[in-house]
Amino acid sequence: MTRPPLNRRLAEFGTTIFAEMSALALSTGSVNLGQGFPDTDGPEAVAEAAVRAIRDGRGNQYPPGPGVPELRTAVADHQRERYGLVYDPDTEVLVTAGATEAIAAALLALVEPGDEVIALEPYYDSYAACVAMAGGTRVPVTLRPDGDRFVLDLDELRAAVTDRTRLILLNTPHNPTGTVLTRDELAAVAALAVERDLLVVTDEVYEHLVFDGEHIPIATFPGMRERTVTISSAGKTFSFTGWKIGWVTATPELTTAVRSAKQYLTFVSGGPFQYAVAEALRLPDTYFTALRDDLRAKRDLLSDGLAQAGFRVFRPQGTYFVTTDIRPLGEHDGIGFCRALPGRCGVVAIPHAVFYDHREQGAPFVRFAFCKRTEVLQDAVKRLGTL
Ligand SMILES: Cc1ncc(COP(=O)(O)O)c(C=O)c1O
Repeated sequence: MTRPPLNRRLAEFGTTIFAEMSALALSTGSVNLGQGFPDTDGPEAVAEAAVRAIRDGRGNQYPPGPGVPELRTAVADHQRERYGLVYDPDTEVLVTAGATEAIAAALLALVEPGDEVIALEPYYDSYAACVAMAGGTRVPVTLRPDGDRFVLDLDELRAAVTDRTRLILLNTPHNPTGTVLTRDELAAVAALAVERDLLVVTDEVYEHLVFDGEHIPIATFPGMRERTVTISSAGKTFSFTGWKIGWVTATPELTTAVRSAKQYLTFVSGGPFQYAVAEALRLPDTYFTALRDDLRAKRDLLSDGLAQAGFRVFRPQGTYFVTTDIRPLGEHDGIGFCRALPGRCGVVAIPHAVFYDHREQGAPFVRFAFCKRTEVLQDAVKRLGTL
């Protein structure tokens, strides 16, 4: 008998839709609105800061395990100035290899085999794999369309909590739906976490990409600072997704726990980039406003184009993804639709179904990324118009 190559915990995670769709984009010459990375780089001054750090010999050898002090201080200042959250840069901030490593390390550190982890479905694909690697059981709570946004059913969330629930894995602004959880929704999640003594791991990588409403970290709610691991990263905010600089803010106990797992994953990474991101976090407000305004215009360009092409459009409040419902086009199967779309009109998108345990719930939804140059989006809209 041959032994299967991938262990049972990971067997369901063999391939990703992104690889398949990016290959399709290449072979068909399609506009790739699948994967969420910008097609222009971030600020020149930040790139120069990385070059300078390399030339000056800062971070070229292993940086300190928790991250370079300049970046930890910049992260702490960012949390205090933007949200009034006070963290000690020495004991309550940890630099990671992107948010991805922070998520993995947090789950590996905090979840015991058999523990249940509640995640909002549809969920970012690494959540399911990381819960599985930790030996946990994922318990999805489905966000459902209601008017022009996907909403969290708080009764369903409450009902999902059991004696085995260890933590809630939150994501706001939410990929792929573009939902930004409101103050009331967050207050309800926080109250439940306190009542049932749950940890919350919150992925806030799109914190600066909010077009309507505001981003509120759940750690700001009563009783939450001591039970929340907040995760963010530089990739989306500064358009340097390849640098993979992320961070965790949490109490000393939680930070130490996450660091215990993180030190055996990468130990450290991206030394010179850490110095550059420390400078990026201190960019003036005009930078963050311009980023948001630019992406808001792109959101509207693509959303309007998709609506004209016949899709039902959920104009996102945040993130750089727009979710659509393909049923008005007479289609029901997003996976088949996305496989055929490059051939039909030369555009690549991602089917929501791959982000669901309840695949049937996600079947009619398709996600398009708009973190692309305006002319690329205009080209995509023209192509979609031929559908
Ligand atoms: C919700 C969410 N979390 C985390 C990440 C990954 O962040 P990073 O590139 O910093 O690892 C992404 C990237 O697409 C994301 O959408």
